[in-house]
Amino acid sequence: MADAMRVAMNDAVNRSAAKTVTGWPVSEAAAGAILTIDLGAIRENYRRLKARLGGVACAGVVKANGYGLGAAQVAAALTREGCDIFFVALLAEGIALRKAIGTGPDIYVLNGLPPGSEPEAMAAGLCAVINSGAQLKAWRAAAQRYNRPLDAVIHIDTGMHRLWLSPEEAHLLAAERGRLRGLRLALLMSHLVVSEEPNNPINGEQLSRFRNFVRTMPGAPASLANSSGIFLGPDYHFDLLRPGAALYGINPTPGRPNPMLTTVTLRARVLQVRRIDALQTVGYGAAWRSARPSRVATIALGYADGYFRTLINRTHVHLAGHKVPVIGRISMDLVTIDVTDVPEADSQPGALVEVLGPHLSADDLAEHARTNAYEVMTALGRRYARLYHDGATA
Ligand SMILES: Cc1ncc(COP(=O)(O)O)c(C=O)c1O
Repeated sequence: MADAMRVAMNDAVNRSAAKTVTGWPVSEAAAGAILTIDLGAIRENYRRLKARLGGVACAGVVKANGYGLGAAQVAAALTREGCDIFFVALLAEGIALRKAIGTGPDIYVLNGLPPGSEPEAMAAGLCAVINSGAQLKAWRAAAQRYNRPLDAVIHIDTGMHRLWLSPEEAHLLAAERGRLRGLRLALLMSHLVVSEEPNNPINGEQLSRFRNFVRTMPGAPASLANSSGIFLGPDYHFDLLRPGAALYGINPTPGRPNPMLTTVTLRARVLQVRRIDALQTVGYGAAWRSARPSRVATIALGYADGYFRTLINRTHVHLAGHKVPVIGRISMDLVTIDVTDVPEADSQPGALVEVLGPHLSADDLAEHARTNAYEVMTALGRRYARLYHDGATA
């Protein structure tokens, strides 16, 4: 390449690098796939959960960008239902959420604060979940340094063995309340290990460990249950529920009918339709072979969009009322489907196939991909055009 041309290209690259790309605000026409998020359904799911709680408060878990659906949009929608406590995982998520929803709602940072980040958390008005003695010390020190009482959540372990204060550390706190000086005890919390299995005895064991701890700290509000925990019954409800999955339509009662509404539809565009003879292979690895002369449609979706490679020859999409098998390997940006049995008029380039939605839930797709619906939702890609609706849904 001529030097002059190389210099000109570098200049162009540098000029475009100076631009700040803040999102992916593509039109429906420009995107390969369209993700429609029904905020009305998320609000209805919140109301359905609330209806089971006999007046107990209900937070919204919006970590991982609202399970992939947009933490800011989801939290704003839930605020309309009276939800005023949100849980995120990371301090960075908390800061972004505070900017998006403003002052008012409480935001709790589940992973705790990284050492030295306390002033940032204070500036954003966030509440630290305390998962260790060191975090407790640092949060107390911040309260003293700025001479301001700070909200703290004490997270104790009852069986998860992930992030926690050990029962011994927690009991020490209960015995010597001075260790909490400068802090306002906003919540005592623990997390269930197998709440989606109502008959698993671990639930009862965790409940009794948590109860014992809560008794040692009278007056402090307590929270144990996530989405599935809500369905274990009122014994598990305490003072605050922390659902995430159920708000987004993931079934909190696996093996039983889903009491929640679907909240997402993902539609991908047909790019091309071709005829192939019998005994032809399709895609990388020649992993599918036609048993008959076939019509193959290629759609604009791939593993780079969170459509897992494990879906190879194991799932289907819906097109104009037809269930259409996904064939061959999932590529980075392309998926092939067998439209031999779909009328040609319905399977033209430009048609939209339903990948996820009323006909195939995130739970179904997860089963096909040998994972869970949480992973399906949080992997939802960044290349989609995202449409938010917030109509009344009942
Ligand atoms: C501590 C904690 N509470 C609540 C939740 C929400 O759980 P779910 O999405 O199952 O309702 C999570 C999610 O993983 C969590 O880590």
